[in-house]
Amino acid sequence: MFSLRAGTELAVVLNSESAIRSAFARPELCARPDTFMFRFFSMGERGVASASGERWEAQRRFMHSALGRMGFGRPRMEELMQEEVGELCQLFSEKSKESETVEIGRDINVSVVNCTWGLVAGERRSHGDEKMKDFLYCVQRGIELASTSAVLLFAPWLLRFLPERLLGIPEMREMRDRTHDFLQEVIDEHKESRQEGEPARDFIDAFLDEKEKPGHHESFDDELQLKMVCAELFAAGAEPTSATIRWAIRFLAENPEVQEKARDEIESVVGSHRRVELSDKPDLPYLRAAIQDAVRLSDIHPVGILHAPSEDTDIDGLRIPKNSFVFPNFHRVHRDPSLWECPEELRPEHWLDPATGAFVPQRPGFVAYSSGRRRCPGQEVGQALLFCFLANLVQRFEFSLAEGDSAGKVETSMGVVVGPRPYRLVVKERS
Ligand code: HEM
Repeated sequence: MFSLRAGTELAVVLNSESAIRSAFARPELCARPDTFMFRFFSMGERGVASASGERWEAQRRFMHSALGRMGFGRPRMEELMQEEVGELCQLFSEKSKESETVEIGRDINVSVVNCTWGLVAGERRSHGDEKMKDFLYCVQRGIELASTSAVLLFAPWLLRFLPERLLGIPEMREMRDRTHDFLQEVIDEHKESRQEGEPARDFIDAFLDEKEKPGHHESFDDELQLKMVCAELFAAGAEPTSATIRWAIRFLAENPEVQEKARDEIESVVGSHRRVELSDKPDLPYLRAAIQDAVRLSDIHPVGILHAPSEDTDIDGLRIPKNSFVFPNFHRVHRDPSLWECPEELRPEHWLDPATGAFVPQRPGFVAYSSGRRRCPGQEVGQALLFCFLANLVQRFEFSLAEGDSAGKVETSMGVVVGPRPYRLVVKERS
């Protein structure tokens, strides 16, 4: 652990798994910093990802349980996800016939966003739907702008000297308002079509149901809260998941022997006459291990999402004032040679019991979904999406590097989520 002064702020970096787990288990270390950026995104303690305090606790508890109930374990959700995977495979098939290489980028984002949309609004929109395209643009542009304005975290005083325009704030506001307008339309449609006494069709219904329960938390009476949590499911859910899928495809192309072994396993368990389903998971340990190691290696949140102490406190004797920044250094843990046999490589064996070959879902050194009270509430949803997309893509296509391309030669985006910029691969449909 060490601390440094970044701009006007004190930042503490937690460098080991035990430091991260013990700090994040403490309630006073689970707030978000009270700075312009977090206030802007939480619109006054709303939502979950940027919020803190009592409202955060009530909304987070609800989100976690609603995602469990609505999640991809349910037949309707699996159906939606399979339709989306089918459309993506179709697109890859057409594109692979048109040119030698296929771009791995936007198509995957759209598919994952559409699945998240199914979870939130219970319906599927086509890849060409104009409103959906605009919504996706606004969410992604908002994330990009938030990343480029991150300087405000360390130098909030800039707001006093520079016009908002130079810091991208008017555009951020516009993106936020456009996503909220679209979500408001969908919420209004839900209010009209909901049937009393019927089970919730999706996350929006579940929220509206909660609001009618006696003794519900007052934050459920606030419609802006509903729009905020819906928008967050895209920003905090779809983007990390699609970035991880794009990384995983890249790693599989760079490691053909791992890809072939995973594909052989699918062939022997599922064959090629039907799609891979979530229920096949227990029979595909090698594929699951390859995916889990891709999550570790892709490290999309290398220093997590900032925490801040809600009161003056100390960690291991170091005094940490209220509202300073606490960064968990996930990258360091995921690349620690004392924890991982081959930290810089894709190694499914990291996750396989050497005696039985069984998949071991949790082991020391893995903190990709964080730890403690802020741990990612969408982990199960994310894992279902990763499995379903990657299993079906590997079943149907062979991904390889084009001539002149080589391992590690891919540009990354910087920001809240570190993903690969769109890149091209040779994509061969398997017969
Ligand atoms: C590969 C996929 C994913 C990864 C690696 C991931 C990782 C993370 C991490 C590291 C955090 C920060 C936790 C902290 O502050 O300590 C987080 C928070 C969060 N994630 Fe995920 N996530 C993924 C997918 C998802 C999905 C699919 C959803 C929703 C459907 C989701 C919803 C959220 C939310 C709402 C938060 C904020 C929680 C809070 O502040 O209390 N995530 N995630």
